[in-house]
Amino acid sequence: MKPEQTLTRQDPRPPGATNLERRVKRQAWAPEHDLFAVTAPGLEPVCAHELVGLGADEARATPGGVLFRGRLDSLYAANLWLRSAGRVLLRLKDFRVRTWEDLLRQAASVPWEVWLGAGAQVRVRVALHESNLRHEGRITEEVFQAAANRLASLGLKPPRLIVGGGLEDQEDDGGDQAEAPNANGDQPPQTILVRGVDRRASLSLDGSGAHLHRRGYRLAPGPAPLREDLAAALLIFCDYDGDQPLLDPFCGAGTLAIEAGLIARRLAPGLARDFAFTAWPSFREPTWRHLRKQAQAATLPAPPRPIHARDVSAPALEACRANIRRAGLEGQIEVQRADFFSADPPPGPGLVVINPPYGHRLGSVRQAADLARRIGQRLRLAYPGWRVGLVLYRPEWAADLGLTQVRTLAAPHGGLKVSLLCGEVPA
Ligand SMILES: C[S@@+](CC[C@H](N)C(=O)[O-])C[C@H]1O[C@@H](n2cnc3c(N)ncnc32)[C@H](O)[C@@H]1O
Repeated sequence: MKPEQTLTRQDPRPPGATNLERRVKRQAWAPEHDLFAVTAPGLEPVCAHELVGLGADEARATPGGVLFRGRLDSLYAANLWLRSAGRVLLRLKDFRVRTWEDLLRQAASVPWEVWLGAGAQVRVRVALHESNLRHEGRITEEVFQAAANRLASLGLKPPRLIVGGGLEDQEDDGGDQAEAPNANGDQPPQTILVRGVDRRASLSLDGSGAHLHRRGYRLAPGPAPLREDLAAALLIFCDYDGDQPLLDPFCGAGTLAIEAGLIARRLAPGLARDFAFTAWPSFREPTWRHLRKQAQAATLPAPPRPIHARDVSAPALEACRANIRRAGLEGQIEVQRADFFSADPPPGPGLVVINPPYGHRLGSVRQAADLARRIGQRLRLAYPGWRVGLVLYRPEWAADLGLTQVRTLAAPHGGLKVSLLCGEVPA
Protein backbone atom coordinates (compact mmCIF):
# COMPACT_ATOMS: atom_id res chain seq x y z
CA MET A 1 0.00 0.00 0.00
CA LYS A 2 1.31 3.41 -0.89
CA PRO A 3 2.00 5.65 2.10
CA GLU A 4 -0.22 8.45 0.68
CA GLN A 5 -3.24 6.13 0.67
CA THR A 6 -2.77 5.37 4.36
CA LEU A 7 -2.45 9.08 5.04
CA THR A 8 -5.63 9.92 3.14
CA ARG A 9 -7.78 7.35 4.92
CA GLN A 10 -6.49 8.01 8.43
CA ASP A 11 -5.93 11.75 8.20
CA PRO A 12 -8.17 13.22 10.93
CA ARG A 13 -7.78 16.76 9.66
CA PRO A 14 -10.80 18.55 8.20
CA PRO A 15 -10.95 18.89 4.41
CA GLY A 16 -8.88 21.84 3.32
CA ALA A 17 -6.50 21.54 6.27
CA THR A 18 -3.64 20.26 4.13
CA ASN A 19 -4.24 23.12 1.72
CA LEU A 20 -4.02 25.54 4.58
CA GLU A 21 -0.83 23.94 5.82
CA ARG A 22 0.66 24.28 2.38
CA ARG A 23 -0.34 27.91 2.25
CA VAL A 24 1.06 28.54 5.70
CA LYS A 25 4.35 27.07 4.58
CA ARG A 26 4.46 29.07 1.38
CA GLN A 27 3.09 32.39 2.59
CA ALA A 28 4.15 32.50 6.22
CA TRP A 29 7.30 30.44 6.68
CA ALA A 30 9.14 30.38 3.37
CA PRO A 31 9.55 34.11 2.78
CA GLU A 32 11.30 36.74 4.79
CA HIS A 33 8.93 39.44 5.96
CA ASP A 34 9.19 43.12 6.66
CA LEU A 35 8.92 43.41 10.43
CA PHE A 36 8.57 46.57 12.46
CA ALA A 37 9.44 47.01 16.12
CA VAL A 38 7.37 49.92 17.43
CA THR A 39 9.11 52.07 20.04
CA ALA A 40 8.32 55.18 22.03
CA PRO A 41 9.54 58.13 19.96
CA GLY A 42 13.24 58.63 20.66
CA LEU A 43 14.03 55.04 21.58
CA GLU A 44 14.48 53.89 17.96
CA PRO A 45 18.33 53.79 18.01
CA VAL A 46 18.33 51.76 21.24
CA CYS A 47 15.91 49.25 19.76
CA ALA A 48 17.92 49.07 16.51
CA HIS A 49 20.99 48.30 18.63
CA GLU A 50 19.06 45.51 20.38
CA LEU A 51 17.88 44.06 17.08
CA VAL A 52 21.39 44.03 15.66
CA GLY A 53 22.44 42.14 18.80
CA LEU A 54 19.69 39.62 18.07
CA GLY A 55 21.15 39.10 14.61
CA ALA A 56 18.39 40.91 12.71
CA ASP A 57 19.12 41.82 9.11
CA GLU A 58 18.92 45.40 7.97
CA ALA A 59 17.66 46.90 11.25
CA ARG A 60 16.82 50.47 10.24
CA ALA A 61 15.63 53.04 12.78
CA THR A 62 12.84 55.20 11.39
CA PRO A 63 10.52 57.57 13.28
CA GLY A 64 8.38 55.45 15.61
CA GLY A 65 10.32 52.21 15.41
CA VAL A 66 12.77 49.96 13.65
CA LEU A 67 12.27 48.19 10.35
CA PHE A 68 13.97 44.84 9.97
CA ARG A 69 13.61 41.74 7.87
CA GLY A 70 13.29 38.19 8.93
CA ARG A 71 11.32 34.99 8.91
CA LEU A 72 8.59 34.39 11.44
CA ASP A 73 11.02 33.02 14.01
CA SER A 74 12.67 36.47 14.01
CA LEU A 75 9.31 37.96 14.96
CA TYR A 76 9.00 35.41 17.77
CA ALA A 77 12.55 36.15 18.99
CA ALA A 78 12.03 39.93 18.82
CA ASN A 79 8.92 39.61 20.99
CA LEU A 80 10.75 37.39 23.42
CA TRP A 81 13.93 39.48 23.73
CA LEU A 82 13.31 43.14 22.96
CA ARG A 83 13.44 45.31 26.06
CA SER A 84 13.01 48.79 24.57
CA ALA A 85 10.21 48.07 22.06
CA GLY A 86 6.46 48.36 22.56
CA ARG A 87 5.32 45.78 20.03
CA VAL A 88 6.42 43.91 16.92
CA LEU A 89 4.37 44.15 13.74
CA LEU A 90 4.30 41.94 10.70
CA ARG A 91 3.94 44.03 7.58
CA LEU A 92 1.41 42.37 5.30
CA LYS A 93 1.31 44.97 2.53
CA ASP A 94 3.06 48.21 1.75
CA PHE A 95 1.68 50.01 -1.28
CA ARG A 96 1.19 53.22 -3.14
CA VAL A 97 -2.33 54.49 -2.72
CA ARG A 98 -3.99 56.81 -5.19
CA THR A 99 -7.60 55.77 -5.00
CA TRP A 100 -9.87 53.91 -2.67
CA GLU A 101 -9.70 50.86 -4.97
CA ASP A 102 -5.97 50.54 -4.26
CA LEU A 103 -6.77 49.84 -0.62
CA LEU A 104 -9.56 47.38 -1.48
CA ARG A 105 -7.38 45.47 -3.92
CA GLN A 106 -4.46 45.23 -1.51
CA ALA A 107 -6.64 44.20 1.43
CA ALA A 108 -8.29 41.51 -0.70
CA SER A 109 -4.92 40.10 -1.77
CA VAL A 110 -3.76 39.29 1.78
CA PRO A 111 -3.89 35.53 2.54
CA TRP A 112 -5.80 36.26 5.76
CA GLU A 113 -6.39 32.57 6.50
CA VAL A 114 -2.68 32.27 7.29
CA TRP A 115 -2.80 35.07 9.86
CA LEU A 116 -6.29 35.05 11.41
CA GLY A 117 -7.74 32.00 13.09
CA ALA A 118 -11.29 30.98 12.21
CA GLY A 119 -13.68 33.14 14.22
CA ALA A 120 -10.87 35.36 15.57
CA GLN A 121 -11.81 38.62 17.24
CA VAL A 122 -10.30 41.40 15.19
CA ARG A 123 -9.66 45.07 15.79
CA VAL A 124 -8.68 47.40 13.02
CA ARG A 125 -6.69 50.46 13.95
CA VAL A 126 -6.24 53.24 11.44
CA ALA A 127 -3.57 55.94 11.55
CA LEU A 128 -3.58 58.52 8.76
CA HIS A 129 -1.17 61.36 8.20
CA GLU A 130 -1.73 63.57 5.19
CA SER A 131 -2.93 60.44 3.48
CA ASN A 132 -4.83 59.97 0.25
CA LEU A 133 -7.07 57.73 2.31
CA ARG A 134 -9.94 59.22 4.31
CA HIS A 135 -12.74 58.04 6.60
CA GLU A 136 -11.28 55.81 9.26
CA GLY A 137 -14.61 54.05 9.90
CA ARG A 138 -14.95 53.03 6.28
CA ILE A 139 -11.35 51.87 6.09
CA THR A 140 -11.94 49.71 9.17
CA GLU A 141 -15.05 48.16 7.63
CA GLU A 142 -13.50 47.51 4.24
CA VAL A 143 -10.30 45.96 5.57
CA PHE A 144 -12.23 43.81 8.00
CA GLN A 145 -14.64 42.78 5.24
CA ALA A 146 -11.77 41.77 2.97
CA ALA A 147 -10.48 39.45 5.72
CA ALA A 148 -13.97 38.10 6.44
CA ASN A 149 -14.69 37.44 2.75
CA ARG A 150 -11.42 35.62 2.31
CA LEU A 151 -12.02 33.30 5.26
CA ALA A 152 -15.65 32.71 4.27
CA SER A 153 -14.64 31.85 0.69
CA LEU A 154 -12.42 29.11 2.08
CA GLY A 155 -15.22 27.71 4.21
CA LEU A 156 -13.63 29.05 7.41
CA LYS A 157 -15.54 30.73 10.21
CA PRO A 158 -15.24 34.48 9.56
CA PRO A 159 -13.62 36.75 12.11
CA ARG A 160 -15.59 39.05 14.40
CA LEU A 161 -14.95 42.78 14.39
CA ILE A 162 -14.60 44.36 17.77
CA VAL A 163 -14.84 48.07 18.12
CA GLY A 164 -13.11 50.27 20.69
CA GLY A 165 -10.12 49.57 22.92
CA GLY A 166 -7.07 48.73 20.90
CA LEU A 167 -3.36 49.11 21.05
CA GLU A 168 -2.24 50.65 24.25
CA ASP A 169 0.70 52.53 22.76
CA GLN A 170 -0.88 55.92 23.04
CA GLU A 171 -3.04 55.54 26.09
CA ASP A 172 -1.30 52.96 28.23
CA ASP A 173 1.12 53.98 30.90
CA GLY A 174 0.12 51.63 33.61
CA GLY A 175 -1.36 48.17 34.22
CA ASP A 176 0.56 45.04 33.65
CA GLN A 177 -2.07 42.49 32.78
CA ALA A 178 -1.85 41.06 29.30
CA GLU A 179 -5.19 40.43 27.62
CA ALA A 180 -6.02 36.84 28.43
CA PRO A 181 -8.44 34.47 26.71
CA ASN A 182 -11.93 35.24 28.04
CA ALA A 183 -14.35 32.91 29.83
CA ASN A 184 -15.54 31.43 26.51
CA GLY A 185 -11.99 30.42 25.74
CA ASP A 186 -11.77 33.05 22.99
CA GLN A 187 -8.26 34.05 22.12
CA PRO A 188 -7.29 37.67 22.82
CA PRO A 189 -8.11 39.97 19.89
CA GLN A 190 -5.86 40.32 16.88
CA THR A 191 -5.12 43.84 15.71
CA ILE A 192 -4.74 44.88 12.09
CA LEU A 193 -3.10 48.26 11.60
CA VAL A 194 -3.77 50.41 8.59
CA ARG A 195 -1.32 53.24 8.22
CA GLY A 196 -1.55 55.89 5.55
CA VAL A 197 1.15 58.49 5.13
CA ASP A 198 1.00 60.73 2.10
CA ARG A 199 0.67 58.46 -0.94
CA ARG A 200 1.74 55.25 0.73
CA ALA A 201 -0.21 52.93 2.94
CA SER A 202 0.51 49.74 4.79
CA LEU A 203 -1.41 46.88 6.36
CA SER A 204 0.22 45.22 9.35
CA LEU A 205 -0.69 42.65 11.94
CA ASP A 206 0.35 43.11 15.55
CA GLY A 207 2.37 40.12 16.73
CA SER A 208 2.64 41.16 20.37
CA GLY A 209 -0.84 41.65 21.84
CA ALA A 210 -0.37 43.47 25.13
CA HIS A 211 2.33 46.16 25.04
CA LEU A 212 5.80 44.63 25.49
CA HIS A 213 6.51 46.81 28.52
CA ARG A 214 4.01 44.59 30.31
CA ARG A 215 6.51 42.06 31.49
CA GLY A 216 4.11 40.89 34.17
CA TYR A 217 6.16 41.68 37.28
CA ARG A 218 5.04 45.18 38.13
CA LEU A 219 1.72 44.87 39.90
CA ALA A 220 2.80 47.42 42.51
CA PRO A 221 3.42 50.53 40.40
CA GLY A 222 4.65 52.92 43.11
CA PRO A 223 3.98 56.67 42.94
CA ALA A 224 5.76 57.71 39.69
CA PRO A 225 7.02 54.59 37.98
CA LEU A 226 9.24 54.59 34.95
CA ARG A 227 7.87 52.41 32.20
CA GLU A 228 9.83 49.19 31.76
CA ASP A 229 10.78 49.88 28.12
CA LEU A 230 12.11 53.31 29.07
CA ALA A 231 14.02 51.94 32.08
CA ALA A 232 15.58 49.22 29.92
CA ALA A 233 16.39 51.78 27.21
CA LEU A 234 18.29 53.95 29.70
CA LEU A 235 20.31 50.93 30.85
CA ILE A 236 21.07 49.81 27.30
CA PHE A 237 21.92 53.38 26.28
CA CYS A 238 24.46 53.38 29.15
CA ASP A 239 25.92 50.06 27.87
CA TYR A 240 24.88 48.21 31.02
CA ASP A 241 25.49 44.49 30.63
CA GLY A 242 25.55 43.33 34.25
CA ASP A 243 29.33 43.15 34.48
CA GLN A 244 29.60 46.18 36.77
CA PRO A 245 27.89 47.07 40.06
CA LEU A 246 24.64 48.97 39.67
CA LEU A 247 22.89 51.37 42.01
CA ASP A 248 19.33 52.69 41.64
CA PRO A 249 19.28 55.22 44.54
CA PHE A 250 15.74 56.59 43.89
CA CYS A 251 14.32 53.15 43.15
CA GLY A 252 10.59 53.68 43.90
CA ALA A 253 8.88 50.52 42.65
CA GLY A 254 12.27 49.26 41.44
CA THR A 255 11.83 49.31 37.67
CA LEU A 256 15.43 50.32 36.86
CA ALA A 257 16.92 47.84 39.33
CA ILE A 258 14.65 45.04 38.11
CA GLU A 259 15.32 45.73 34.43
CA ALA A 260 19.02 45.73 35.33
CA GLY A 261 18.53 42.36 37.05
CA LEU A 262 16.87 40.94 33.93
CA ILE A 263 19.68 42.24 31.70
CA ALA A 264 22.39 41.04 34.08
CA ARG A 265 20.91 37.54 34.22
CA ARG A 266 20.37 37.54 30.41
CA LEU A 267 16.72 36.85 31.21
CA ALA A 268 14.44 37.30 28.20
CA PRO A 269 11.78 39.83 29.24
CA GLY A 270 9.05 37.95 27.36
CA LEU A 271 9.56 34.56 28.98
CA ALA A 272 6.64 34.92 31.39
CA ARG A 273 3.95 36.26 29.06
CA ASP A 274 1.77 35.44 26.10
CA PHE A 275 1.80 36.94 22.59
CA ALA A 276 -0.78 37.50 19.85
CA PHE A 277 1.23 35.48 17.31
CA THR A 278 0.64 32.27 19.26
CA ALA A 279 -2.98 32.37 18.01
CA TRP A 280 -2.07 32.76 14.33
CA PRO A 281 -2.80 29.69 12.19
CA SER A 282 0.83 29.93 11.08
CA PHE A 283 2.04 29.52 14.67
CA ARG A 284 4.68 26.84 15.08
CA GLU A 285 4.70 25.64 18.64
CA PRO A 286 7.99 23.66 18.30
CA THR A 287 9.86 26.72 17.00
CA TRP A 288 8.50 28.83 19.84
CA ARG A 289 9.34 26.14 22.40
CA HIS A 290 12.87 25.93 20.99
CA LEU A 291 13.39 29.71 21.25
CA ARG A 292 12.09 29.73 24.82
CA LYS A 293 14.31 26.80 25.76
CA GLN A 294 17.33 28.53 24.25
CA ALA A 295 16.46 31.65 26.23
CA GLN A 296 16.10 29.67 29.43
CA ALA A 297 19.43 27.96 28.82
CA ALA A 298 21.14 31.33 28.30
CA THR A 299 19.91 32.62 31.66
CA LEU A 300 22.50 33.11 34.40
CA PRO A 301 21.51 31.95 37.89
CA ALA A 302 22.32 35.36 39.41
CA PRO A 303 23.58 38.79 38.33
CA PRO A 304 27.40 38.64 38.04
CA ARG A 305 27.83 41.90 40.00
CA PRO A 306 25.74 43.42 42.81
CA ILE A 307 22.59 45.42 42.10
CA HIS A 308 21.41 47.86 44.77
CA ALA A 309 17.96 49.44 45.03
CA ARG A 310 17.60 52.28 47.53
CA ASP A 311 14.89 54.75 48.46
CA VAL A 312 13.94 56.91 51.44
CA SER A 313 10.33 55.76 51.40
CA ALA A 314 9.33 52.58 53.24
CA PRO A 315 6.12 52.01 51.15
CA ALA A 316 8.14 52.44 47.93
CA LEU A 317 10.60 49.82 49.14
CA GLU A 318 7.72 47.49 49.98
CA ALA A 319 6.41 47.80 46.40
CA CYS A 320 9.94 47.36 45.12
CA ARG A 321 10.43 44.13 47.08
CA ALA A 322 7.08 42.74 45.86
CA ASN A 323 8.02 43.52 42.25
CA ILE A 324 11.47 42.00 42.64
CA ARG A 325 9.83 38.82 43.94
CA ARG A 326 7.41 38.68 41.01
CA ALA A 327 10.27 39.24 38.56
CA GLY A 328 11.99 36.14 39.98
CA LEU A 329 14.90 38.19 41.33
CA GLU A 330 14.32 37.69 45.05
CA GLY A 331 17.59 37.79 46.98
CA GLN A 332 19.42 39.05 43.89
CA ILE A 333 18.89 42.77 44.40
CA GLU A 334 19.97 44.39 47.64
CA VAL A 335 17.13 46.62 48.84
CA GLN A 336 17.95 49.28 51.40
CA ARG A 337 16.34 52.34 52.94
CA ALA A 338 18.79 55.18 52.34
CA ASP A 339 18.92 58.88 51.53
CA PHE A 340 20.94 59.51 48.39
CA PHE A 341 22.34 62.74 49.76
CA SER A 342 23.80 61.23 52.93
CA ALA A 343 24.36 57.50 52.28
CA ASP A 344 27.73 56.25 51.08
CA PRO A 345 27.81 54.62 47.66
CA PRO A 346 28.11 50.84 47.55
CA PRO A 347 31.50 49.41 46.51
CA GLY A 348 32.23 50.53 42.97
CA PRO A 349 32.73 52.24 40.71
CA GLY A 350 29.85 51.06 38.63
CA LEU A 351 26.74 52.52 37.03
CA VAL A 352 24.31 54.67 39.02
CA VAL A 353 20.91 55.08 37.35
CA ILE A 354 18.69 57.86 38.60
CA ASN A 355 15.02 58.65 38.04
CA PRO A 356 14.66 61.60 40.40
CA PRO A 357 11.40 62.59 42.09
CA TYR A 358 10.64 65.58 39.86
CA GLY A 359 7.30 67.26 40.41
CA HIS A 360 5.07 67.61 37.37
CA ARG A 361 3.51 70.94 38.26
CA LEU A 362 4.85 74.08 36.62
CA GLY A 363 5.61 75.63 40.00
CA SER A 364 8.00 72.81 40.76
CA VAL A 365 10.25 73.26 37.73
CA ARG A 366 12.64 75.42 39.74
CA GLN A 367 12.71 72.82 42.52
CA ALA A 368 13.36 70.10 39.95
CA ALA A 369 16.24 72.09 38.43
CA ASP A 370 17.64 72.57 41.92
CA LEU A 371 17.31 68.86 42.64
CA ALA A 372 19.21 68.02 39.43
CA ARG A 373 21.98 70.39 40.52
CA ARG A 374 22.15 68.80 43.99
CA ILE A 375 22.30 65.35 42.44
CA GLY A 376 25.24 66.54 40.30
CA GLN A 377 27.01 67.87 43.41
CA ARG A 378 26.50 64.62 45.31
CA LEU A 379 27.73 62.57 42.38
CA ARG A 380 30.90 64.64 42.05
CA LEU A 381 31.55 64.43 45.78
CA ALA A 382 30.80 60.77 46.51
CA TYR A 383 30.79 58.90 43.18
CA PRO A 384 34.06 59.75 41.35
CA GLY A 385 34.71 57.33 38.51
CA TRP A 386 31.08 56.09 38.41
CA ARG A 387 29.11 56.18 35.22
CA VAL A 388 25.67 57.79 35.41
CA GLY A 389 22.33 57.17 33.70
CA LEU A 390 19.81 59.88 34.45
CA VAL A 391 16.27 60.84 33.52
CA LEU A 392 16.34 64.61 33.05
CA TYR A 393 13.24 66.72 32.47
CA ARG A 394 15.13 69.55 30.78
CA PRO A 395 18.15 68.81 28.55
CA GLU A 396 19.71 72.16 29.48
CA TRP A 397 20.13 70.97 33.09
CA ALA A 398 22.80 68.54 31.87
CA ALA A 399 25.35 71.35 31.84
CA ASP A 400 24.93 71.88 35.63
CA LEU A 401 25.66 68.27 36.53
CA GLY A 402 29.41 68.50 35.96
CA LEU A 403 29.56 65.15 34.16
CA THR A 404 31.83 64.22 31.28
CA GLN A 405 31.25 62.07 28.16
CA VAL A 406 27.61 63.13 28.15
CA ARG A 407 25.23 61.65 25.57
CA THR A 408 21.48 62.23 25.56
CA LEU A 409 18.40 60.77 23.98
CA ALA A 410 14.95 62.38 24.00
CA ALA A 411 12.07 60.15 25.12
CA PRO A 412 8.48 60.56 26.32
CA HIS A 413 7.68 59.88 29.95
CA GLY A 414 4.37 60.48 31.73
CA GLY A 415 3.12 62.89 29.05
CA LEU A 416 6.37 64.88 29.05
CA LYS A 417 9.40 64.84 26.84
CA VAL A 418 12.42 63.91 28.95
CA SER A 419 16.09 63.36 28.22
CA LEU A 420 17.80 60.09 28.93
CA LEU A 421 21.34 61.07 29.80
CA CYS A 422 24.43 58.96 30.02
CA GLY A 423 27.68 60.38 31.38
CA GLU A 424 30.63 59.89 33.71
CA VAL A 425 31.57 61.45 37.03
CA PRO A 426 35.12 62.80 36.76
CA ALA A 427 37.49 60.58 38.75
C1 LIG B 1 10.25 59.13 40.39
S1 LIG B 1 10.29 58.06 41.75
C2 LIG B 1 11.24 56.72 41.14
C3 LIG B 1 10.40 55.79 40.34
C4 LIG B 1 11.11 54.53 39.98
N1 LIG B 1 12.12 54.72 38.97
C5 LIG B 1 10.08 53.48 39.54
O1 LIG B 1 10.15 53.05 38.39
O2 LIG B 1 9.21 53.16 40.31
C6 LIG B 1 11.40 58.84 42.82
C7 LIG B 1 11.67 58.11 44.12
O3 LIG B 1 12.68 58.81 44.82
C8 LIG B 1 12.47 58.65 46.20
N2 LIG B 1 13.27 59.70 46.91
C9 LIG B 1 12.97 61.00 47.07
N3 LIG B 1 13.99 61.63 47.70
C10 LIG B 1 14.96 60.71 47.93
C11 LIG B 1 16.24 60.74 48.52
N4 LIG B 1 16.74 61.87 49.01
N5 LIG B 1 16.96 59.61 48.57
C12 LIG B 1 16.46 58.44 48.10
N6 LIG B 1 15.23 58.35 47.52
C13 LIG B 1 14.49 59.46 47.43
C14 LIG B 1 10.98 58.75 46.34
O4 LIG B 1 10.56 58.10 47.54
C15 LIG B 1 10.49 58.04 45.08
O5 LIG B 1 10.19 56.70 45.34
